[in-house]
Amino acid sequence: MSIILIGFMGAGKTTIAKTLATQYQLPMVDTDQLLSHQYQQPTGELFTAIGEAKFREVEFQALKIALQANTPIIATGGGIIEYQKSWQLLAKQNDVFWLDVDFATCWQRIANDSNRPVAQKNSPATLLARYQNRQGRYQSAANYTITAANQSPLSLASQIWALQTTLR
Ligand code: S3P
Repeated sequence: MSIILIGFMGAGKTTIAKTLATQYQLPMVDTDQLLSHQYQQPTGELFTAIGEAKFREVEFQALKIALQANTPIIATGGGIIEYQKSWQLLAKQNDVFWLDVDFATCWQRIANDSNRPVAQKNSPATLLARYQNRQGRYQSAANYTITAANQSPLSLASQIWALQTTLR
């Protein structure tokens, strides 16, 4: 079984996955990293080059690979739940954690990141609408919601670890 982290861009999925991996000495993978490795370019460039629709499909394939490999800790891209096949696959898993972080905090973290085209190419208002649209999907795919702003990665990692133990 895998601990899977979902949530908006800037929620801290990759950071928490790395913290979990270090603290509990387990392998982790990030679907964005898998894609950038497979396509030999940063995820943002890949997203722009192939377009969002195709990106969602290759992202789904990356999620399948990570799950089939039983990777203990999986971080996902923020938009993965927008694709029905990915959302359905996530909804079937047992340890999906939604890192729920307010939009202002996410925005602060992503506004200047050139590797995040979805943040760069949309106005804050459009991005906020997208954030709001995604909230219900994150919630319905997740087994657990972690209110994750204003907490250290170490504290979040230990909460997630404790919860996945009780969820088993
Ligand atoms: C995206 C989020 C990114 C990446 C891609 C699209 C999105 O991942 O998958 O740029 O649509 O929210 P992060 O959530 O790790 O930034």
